[in-house]
Amino acid sequence: MAHGEGGRTIVVSNRGPVTFTRGESGEREYSRGAGGLVTALNAVLRRAENAVWIASAQSEEDVAVSKEPAPYEVEDLRIRFVEHDPEAYDLMYNELANPLLWFVQHGLYDLPYSPALGDETKRAWEEGYVPVNRNFADAVVETAADQDSPTVLLHDYQLYMTPLFVRERLGAGAFLSLFVHIPWPEPDLWRVLPHYVREGVLESLLSADVVAFHTHRYARAFAETAADVLGAETESGVIRYRGREVWVRAYPISIDPGEFEDLAQSEDVLEQERFVKGLPGKLLLRVDRTDLSKNVVRGFLAYGRMLERHPEMRGEVTFLAQLQPSRTDIREYAAYMEAVGTTAEEVNEEYGTPSWRPVELFMEDNFPRSVAAYKNYDVLLVNAVRDGMNLVAKEAAVINEKNGVLVLSENAGAHEELGEYALTVNPYDIDEQADSIYAALTMPEEERGQRAKALRETVDSNTIEDWVEAQIQDIEAYRGRR
Ligand code: G6P
Repeated sequence: MAHGEGGRTIVVSNRGPVTFTRGESGEREYSRGAGGLVTALNAVLRRAENAVWIASAQSEEDVAVSKEPAPYEVEDLRIRFVEHDPEAYDLMYNELANPLLWFVQHGLYDLPYSPALGDETKRAWEEGYVPVNRNFADAVVETAADQDSPTVLLHDYQLYMTPLFVRERLGAGAFLSLFVHIPWPEPDLWRVLPHYVREGVLESLLSADVVAFHTHRYARAFAETAADVLGAETESGVIRYRGREVWVRAYPISIDPGEFEDLAQSEDVLEQERFVKGLPGKLLLRVDRTDLSKNVVRGFLAYGRMLERHPEMRGEVTFLAQLQPSRTDIREYAAYMEAVGTTAEEVNEEYGTPSWRPVELFMEDNFPRSVAAYKNYDVLLVNAVRDGMNLVAKEAAVINEKNGVLVLSENAGAHEELGEYALTVNPYDIDEQADSIYAALTMPEEERGQRAKALRETVDSNTIEDWVEAQIQDIEAYRGRR
């Protein structure tokens, strides 16, 4: 980072900040990636001089960029793409990281039946996950070539083996951290993984200097898992293992409120606002990727139940669901998209009238429409089964103009900060969610105003800059203790 000690900062994530394509005129063009993680890492890079961001090549043109020797400079970023063997990448992404690790960490398996682990799992690990992680490590080592003590900031569950491979080659002088952006489960759930994954990942993470999470709950669960599976010694935020000291920390990620205030006034958003404002009745909103962890189906069921119990609400509310398709090559995700569509249709058939469609479902990427809806919702539903943080709750709270009420899952990381001012729900309890949606839609204006103000103030008091600053301070403290 931009502090005295320590060399170049290297940020690594599977998904990068931009993707390149060749335009019709043969020019290289790029589009910026959306999403919370990318925005957050941009804030990290702003604080570091000469930093490089390493990510997987996603397009043919990214591969061309990856073959160029120096990091590619675009706007204020220096990017280096890593090319993976397509089959290895497919095994990593579609077999190991997203179904297996993601499902275990979000508690998505129907454990009496799945996962059905076996030789295929081992192949996905050995021929997919491990080689892809070695590629990342190679890129880090090359980028750090002339540096005595680089700062290497690794991000998320796609890169769990990278700390080990980097440490083997850069030694103790490098500062390594891995930020886990998704929940960390209790030890028994971690033991669902085959032993080579379960132990391999933990050994690798404990070769980092800091392992970071969004909440204290996940940080505690991680320390318990390390003690349970590897017999590591743990004591208030520190794990001792094989003579090393690893700090386990919680840094709740956030957003840049100014960025959303600007976006809220942009042309694209103002145009979408005409559509959003035209929807009948009050606006119930959800904005998510089509991920099983987001609990979209139960959300529609709860809304249907609310309409069943409160016929007077029919025609008085519209549920806008803005869902961005995600990981569509994975069977479970494709099936979930179907289930989402079917459940929405069922609610519409049961309660709809010629002049009112209870659910407006969009399964397409339309960020401006989501931002327009952020400004105008009366109730925002975030009912995730589990969620590392959930930035939608924060983004929406800072620009909402209707004193909107947040209905929030107790298992979203955001609940640690925002729970007090939201209506808390158990994501598995459909009746409770139905009651909370109703309570939110009918809440007196004064209480709505108080809660909305407190939500906004809470987000403003811990922005993305604070998130970065807290980590920089710990990096300095960690280096300083050596
Ligand atoms: C979550 C993960 C990120 C991931 C993002 C989008 O936020 O924590 O690591 O990049 O989802 O998923 P995708 O598979 O499209 O990268």
